[in-house]
Amino acid sequence: MGQAYKRVEEGGLMMEGRILVTGGAGFIGSHLVDSLIELGFEVVVFDNLTGGRRENLSRWLHNPKLRFIQGDLLNQAEVLSLLDGCDLIYHLAAHPEVRVGSADPSAHFRDNIQATFNLLEAIRLRGWRGRLVFTSSSTVYGEAETPTPETYPILRPISVYGASKLACEALINAYARSYGFRALIFRLANIIGPRSRHGVVADFIRKLEDNPEELEILGDGTQKKSYLYVSDCVEALLLGLTESYTDILEVYNIGSIDQIEVLKIAKIVVEEMGLGSVRFRVTGGVDGGRGWIGDVKNMLLDTSKLRSKGWSPRYNSEQAVRRTVNEIIKQGQNKLKG
Ligand SMILES: NC(=O)c1ccc[n+]([C@@H]2O[C@H](COP(=O)([O-])OP(=O)(O)OC[C@H]3O[C@@H](n4cnc5c(N)ncnc54)[C@H](O)[C@@H]3O)[C@@H](O)[C@H]2O)c1
Repeated sequence: MGQAYKRVEEGGLMMEGRILVTGGAGFIGSHLVDSLIELGFEVVVFDNLTGGRRENLSRWLHNPKLRFIQGDLLNQAEVLSLLDGCDLIYHLAAHPEVRVGSADPSAHFRDNIQATFNLLEAIRLRGWRGRLVFTSSSTVYGEAETPTPETYPILRPISVYGASKLACEALINAYARSYGFRALIFRLANIIGPRSRHGVVADFIRKLEDNPEELEILGDGTQKKSYLYVSDCVEALLLGLTESYTDILEVYNIGSIDQIEVLKIAKIVVEEMGLGSVRFRVTGGVDGGRGWIGDVKNMLLDTSKLRSKGWSPRYNSEQAVRRTVNEIIKQGQNKLKG
C-alpha cells in the first residue's frame, strides 16, 4: 500500500500523499491537477493525450510534484503498475463527447467502459484499498424530471455516452463492494471554462472564428441546460479529499443552480467576441429539435446534497458562459483547432 496521508485535525484535509489522476492532461483533469499540486499533493497523471494536451500541465512539467505518464488505460499491463504508492485515484479519463456516440458507439464502449474495467481489474489484482473518485455525467438520468436528484428512481440514458457512464457506475459499485475500496461518484452537468475543447461554447467560438458572419446552431436552439464554470467543478471534486463516508459508495450531482438556452448562449458568445450582426442558422436538429441523436433537451440537476456539504457555485450558467468565452479568447484562437 502506498504512503499514508497526513490529516490536518480541523477539517480533515489531507495535506500530503500521492494521487493518481487518469485523464489529468484533459480539460477538467488539468484544472484539478493545478489545485491538487497547489494544495501540496504529489500527483501522477496518466493520459494518452487523445483529448488532452501536455501544455495543459505546462506549469508543472518541471516540478517534482508532478509525474506525467503518457499511457493508455486500454493497455492492461500499463495500468497494473500505476497504483503503487497512490491512495486516491481521480478517474477522469474518458471519451467525453456525447455527439460522437451516435456515429461511433464503440468509442464510448472502449474509452469509457473498457478503460474503466481495466482500471478496476488493476485495483482487484493489486488488492488496492484506497478511494476512487469517478466523474460520471448528468446524461445517466436520460430525460428525467428537473431538477433531478441523485435519488431519481429510473436511470434511462438516451445516449450511448450516458449508457457507458452508467455502466461504469455499476461496475465501480460492484467492485467497491466486492473488493474492499471506497468510491465517490460525481454526476457532472456541462462543465465549461478555459482549456475546454468540446461542447457548445468551444464549438460556437471555433465556428465564429472560421466565419464571423454566420453561426450554425445544432438542434432547434431551445435546448436548455445547466452550465458550470470549471473552478466551481474542481472545488466540488476536491470534496473527494475531505469527505468522510458512511457508505462504501456515495453519489453527488455537480451543476449550476440554473439553466440557459442554446440560443441565448449563441447571443452571449457573439456579444463577448465583439462581433456585429451574426446570422443564426438553426439546423432544426433531429427527433423534435435535439442537437444530435441522444441530446437531452432539458437538463438541470438538483445539487442540494452537495450544497449541504458546504459547496456552492460562484457563478450561474450565464456568468460561466461569459467567463469561458473571455478566457478561451485570451488563450489564443488557434488553441481550439487541431
Ligand atoms: N466536460 C464536461 O462537460 C463533462 C460533463 C460530464 C462528465 N464529464 C466527464 O469528466 C471527465 C473529464 O472530461 P473533460 O471534459 O475534461 O474531457 P477531456 O477529453 O478534456 O479529458 C479526458 C482525458 O482523458 C484522456 N483519455 C481518454 N481516453 C484515455 C485512455 N484510454 N487512457 C488514458 N487517457 C485517456 C484524454 O486524453 C483526455 O486528456 C470525463 O470522464 C468526462 O466524461 C465531463
